[in-house]
Amino acid sequence: MIEQPSMITMQLMGKRYEVPSGLTIMAAIEYAGYKLVRGSGCRAGFCGACPTIYRMADDHRLHTALACQTLVKDGMHLVQVPYVPVAKRIYTLDDLQPVPNTILQYYPEIAGCVACNTCSRACPQGIQVMDYIQAALRGDIERAAQISFECISCGICSSRCPADIKHYPVAQMARRLYGKYITSSSQHLAARVAQLDNGEFDAEMNTLMSMSVEQLKARYEQRTFETVAGANQERSATRQWGSAIDPVDYQDELEPDEAACSVS
Ligand code: SF4
Ligand code: SF4
Ligand code: FES
Repeated sequence: MIEQPSMITMQLMGKRYEVPSGLTIMAAIEYAGYKLVRGSGCRAGFCGACPTIYRMADDHRLHTALACQTLVKDGMHLVQVPYVPVAKRIYTLDDLQPVPNTILQYYPEIAGCVACNTCSRACPQGIQVMDYIQAALRGDIERAAQISFECISCGICSSRCPADIKHYPVAQMARRLYGKYITSSSQHLAARVAQLDNGEFDAEMNTLMSMSVEQLKARYEQRTFETVAGANQERSATRQWGSAIDPVDYQDELEPDEAACSVS
């Protein structure tokens, strides 16, 4: 007999909903009858499309999270932030030099950082955001690139910064400069690019492009992970990744609701 999850209460944009405990925020919103047409992408913590702001009952403080990676809690008051527009500066990487003031030239506002660390506290990836901004300010491109390596460009940090700093474009610029000019080149990558240029994968790609959606789904389900060293078995890939509870599991349980709202 399948154990039923206990129900908890959340508020979404001021409206109260009972949802099962154990869902991610994203799955809870869908369980409540909303269709996410924006603010949802990979559902796996990689794309940065699902920034969420919430506070708990009887607590004035705002918290930030990724909706696909954070479990809904009893008493959560939620709003979705579907997109954080952060103005990126235009440059051609080939024309730049990896010298200390390159980033500062394009993002001079980083000099206005007041070291409040709000950005680091807001980051759902646990990145020391202030540290990479300070590294960029010092011209330490390598350090800025390394600290920001797991940034997913959700923009939450920028939405909270009192100095109007565009954090993730700064981090992207540092990683681009680092990748092109500072780190050693990858022989494997060069070999793979040469294979692509020589058309070695064209036939396989054409086969995939000619398949129907159903055929592609079947192929996807059949795939296997590489065998982990020491573990003498291959695992089915299905549902090994993603959120604590796969939202798809709950979609079947949703009552069809013609009047379902769209969170965009
Ligand atoms: S939130 Fe802005 S001002 Fe505060 S530490 Fe981060 S970058 Fe600096
Ligand atoms: S550094 Fe900023 S943009 Fe990158 S993951 Fe953290 S909060 Fe999101
Ligand atoms: S949907 Fe991609 S990070 Fe949440």
